[in-house]
Amino acid sequence: MARFVLKDTFYKKAKQEGLRARSAYKLQEIQERFRIVRNGDKVLDLGCAPGSWLQFLSGMVGKQGTVIGIDILPTPALTAKNITTIVADIRKTDINNVLSRQAIDGFDVVTCDIAPNLSGIREVDDARIEEIFGAVLGTVEAALKPGGHFIIKSFFTVVQKGISKKLQERFSKVSLYKPAASRSVSSEVYYICQGKKSDTPVRREA
Ligand SMILES: C[S@@+](CC[C@H](N)C(=O)[O-])C[C@H]1O[C@@H](n2cnc3c(N)ncnc32)[C@H](O)[C@@H]1O
Repeated sequence: MARFVLKDTFYKKAKQEGLRARSAYKLQEIQERFRIVRNGDKVLDLGCAPGSWLQFLSGMVGKQGTVIGIDILPTPALTAKNITTIVADIRKTDINNVLSRQAIDGFDVVTCDIAPNLSGIREVDDARIEEIFGAVLGTVEAALKPGGHFIIKSFFTVVQKGISKKLQERFSKVSLYKPAASRSVSSEVYYICQGKKSDTPVRREA
């Protein structure tokens, strides 16, 4: 059964098209529907390994754009010149250091496809989801430009209401979206957050 699920249509398509994971098609669907990423954008991709979102994002931002990926695991090297990857745990990353090291004054878009290790024990998993969400939201507050957009994977769980409320406080428009490429048995869902409100400004290094 597991082997059958792994080799579904999107898995096969990703292999044929040289993409590193079927997750790429989730981002593609989000982009087709919401038009989040533009040519020339600076994008931060959290939980980027093995790199299929980076592959898509690199093409979306083009030569004038930049894509920085962060993952707790190493991302196998990608050839596109507009991609930089960093190995780091987002819970322990000072994003202001990343901004200054990369000479970036803020991102136009932040994407987050992080999946915390889930145990199957609801209380434990909810705590992990909230911990990651808190760290990612802190990163977004520090590094996403006012007016910028944010895509984050979440899960149907009791903590979702609180997550949704926090996102609505910080963004002009928040949509909940489950791409067709997301397995129906998975509780994952994506928040598409458009227009960061300007009362949460990007902090810059002096
Ligand atoms: C579903 S995968 C992302 C797939 C990616 N979007 C792609 O298309 O290739 C989730 C990633 O989140 C990363 N991750 C989990 N916890 C993390 C943390 N605390 N900090 C950074 N990355 C983390 C995992 O290592 C994993 O590579």
